Amino acid sequence: RDIHLEIDQYDVRSKEQLEQFRLRFISRKGVITELFEGLKSVPAEDRRAVGQELNGLKNRAQERFDQFSQFIDEQHASANSAPPIDLTLPVLPNLTGTRHPLNLVRQRIIQIFERIGFNVADGPEIESDWYNFGALNFPDNHPARDMQDTFFVAKSPNGDPAQDMLLRTHTSNVQIRLMERQKPGTAFKPIRSIMPGRVYRNETISARAHCLFHQVEGLYIDRNVGFKDLKDTLYHFVKEMFEPGTRIRFRPSYFPFTEPSAEIDISCQICGGKGCTICKHSGWVEIAGSGMVDPQVIANCGIDPEEYTGFAFGMGIERITQLKYVVNDLRLYTENDVRFLRQFEGL
Ligand code: PHE
Repeated sequence: RDIHLEIDQYDVRSKEQLEQFRLRFISRKGVITELFEGLKSVPAEDRRAVGQELNGLKNRAQERFDQFSQFIDEQHASANSAPPIDLTLPVLPNLTGTRHPLNLVRQRIIQIFERIGFNVADGPEIESDWYNFGALNFPDNHPARDMQDTFFVAKSPNGDPAQDMLLRTHTSNVQIRLMERQKPGTAFKPIRSIMPGRVYRNETISARAHCLFHQVEGLYIDRNVGFKDLKDTLYHFVKEMFEPGTRIRFRPSYFPFTEPSAEIDISCQICGGKGCTICKHSGWVEIAGSGMVDPQVIANCGIDPEEYTGFAFGMGIERITQLKYVVNDLRLYTENDVRFLRQFEGL
């Protein structure tokens, strides 16, 4: 009985204690072996009952021993592996990316125009002089062609300057490519497209200028397209894109490929038109160039300008993003500073 109690109350916390337990209860020199030896002197009629009792004791001792050694093994294993885990520590944040502000604004522009029947078209960024300038009526000596503005990448192999290759300076090259795609002799398919993309100009990088930026070109060519359609379309765009109450004005301007031409200004989103550094205290900011496509440009693409007319516009995505989200330095768009980018989370 006493030994039973002793086994049940025995506590083993270390390898040494485990060995002591083994010596006392399991080994051939232990107390249980000793008790079995005493069985001989027990009267024959009691021997069976006492024998059963001793077997129970022996099994119990073995069971405890197994438990203790498992415990010691586990303790040993965890002490040798990683330090204990503190489940109360805060977890490391799981950082997911956010959409780039220029991407957000481009998507919004596409959405607005798609809803009024425009589709999205695309054209090359490495372009010939003809598509970027010539077909758009830029005279040979136009300053925009100058090496100082345009990144030329290759001289034409046959000496034809129209085939010199350059990085496009605007998305207007895609106007030409879309109009050219009409098959002569087949029914004219009206063109109603917007064309987002990267453009390049040889500018020194500063808060206000960059050598790489983004435009969205728009083109609508069909029978009976008039200046009123241009105004309606851009009024609608401004109403959808900017704050309620934003004012818009068309200011006469000049582009070689549109006639008449207009620049589109909106009331400054930052100061509400009262005057601030963004609008240079005028209350207005320019967001796009536009105009009726010059008949000569339409003819350059093999379309009869007597029958078909249209309008075009081109806007800068960086500028629109600046006005919408008050981004005062163009360089922020390309520096990939997460403190900037994270501010657009969830938009
Ligand atoms: N391509 C012109 C620019 O980059 C903008 C424009 C596009 C003007 C279409 C008129 C029509 O400044």
